[in-house]
Amino acid sequence: MEVDLTQNLVSAEESEEDEILFSLRPKSMAEYIGQQNIRENLSICLIAAKKRKEPVEHLMLYGPPGLGKTTLAHIVANEMGANIRVTSGPAIERAGDLASILTNLSDGDILFIDEIHRLNRNIEEVLYPAMEDYAIDLILGKGPSAKTMRIDLPRFTLVGATTKMGSLSSPLRDRFGVSFRLEFYSEEELSEIIKRAASILNIDIDKEGIEEISKRARRTPRIANRILKRVRDFAEVKHSGKITKSIAKEALKSLEIDELGLDKNDREYLSCIINKFGGGPVGVETIAAAISEDRDTIEDMIEPYLIQIGFIDRTRRGRVATGAAFAHLGVAETSDSQKRLI
Ligand code: ADE
Repeated sequence: MEVDLTQNLVSAEESEEDEILFSLRPKSMAEYIGQQNIRENLSICLIAAKKRKEPVEHLMLYGPPGLGKTTLAHIVANEMGANIRVTSGPAIERAGDLASILTNLSDGDILFIDEIHRLNRNIEEVLYPAMEDYAIDLILGKGPSAKTMRIDLPRFTLVGATTKMGSLSSPLRDRFGVSFRLEFYSEEELSEIIKRAASILNIDIDKEGIEEISKRARRTPRIANRILKRVRDFAEVKHSGKITKSIAKEALKSLEIDELGLDKNDREYLSCIINKFGGGPVGVETIAAAISEDRDTIEDMIEPYLIQIGFIDRTRRGRVATGAAFAHLGVAETSDSQKRLI
């Protein structure tokens, strides 16, 4: 039986399957594993806001996909006993859409805007007075006779999330009271997350099985949980159901995920830089065209982890593959390629 298990597995992008994984999301700060610095500082913000009986300060969460930005937004709402309204930058098409969302909030509510860097600039301007003064300015009429009318809003908290802090306009960035960068998880933290998920989903897995998955999950909980479920399928269909180290290895091999957690797309990207462009420097647009992938996917999904493990450097002249990347693909580095980093 040939089953394609590789589809979408190592992408940190959200998919429908993740809806099922929604149940795995920790609901409270106490259940949340990793990101210790954020947990500590965010908890202080929440406790202080509660004590003062004020809404939490507007909060910005940024970092690569799959690390828990949405989860944290829900935890903030839960911990504050508040409602959360979830939307995203691209989903808000007109200023009126945002005005209607804002006017329908209640005191203390959390408004979560994912991919906030994709919010249109005109729409963004509605947010400035909303964030600063809890008000929106409606423009009535057109031309010289146009008037503005100020409408008060409830005292809400905006939680913005982005994978691209650099694409955010500075007026918007400046209006957040606190901002936190989510970091990649350690293998130990991922192991704990996998153990927790396995227990919630009733998956039989031993310590070595957990470690094998955590080594190959690109330090990302969303990927770890997704791999866990696929390996469970594999263990149930081809074996007795229990996940051991050897079964995890066999499953990951069939999923084409290598020892470092890289999948076909990552290897294609690296091979493009190394084999087609002599290791770089090469511009991201050129790579995108050569491997028929869009630039955002490369920048958001593929590169952050490869940069983190020291396989890729982003230089002003373009992307450069390091010696470690050459070694991983088994390609000999020329002396020329060693000079590329200079
Ligand atoms: N599931 C996904 N991310 C998690 C985290 N950070 N802590 C606990 N469980 C998780």
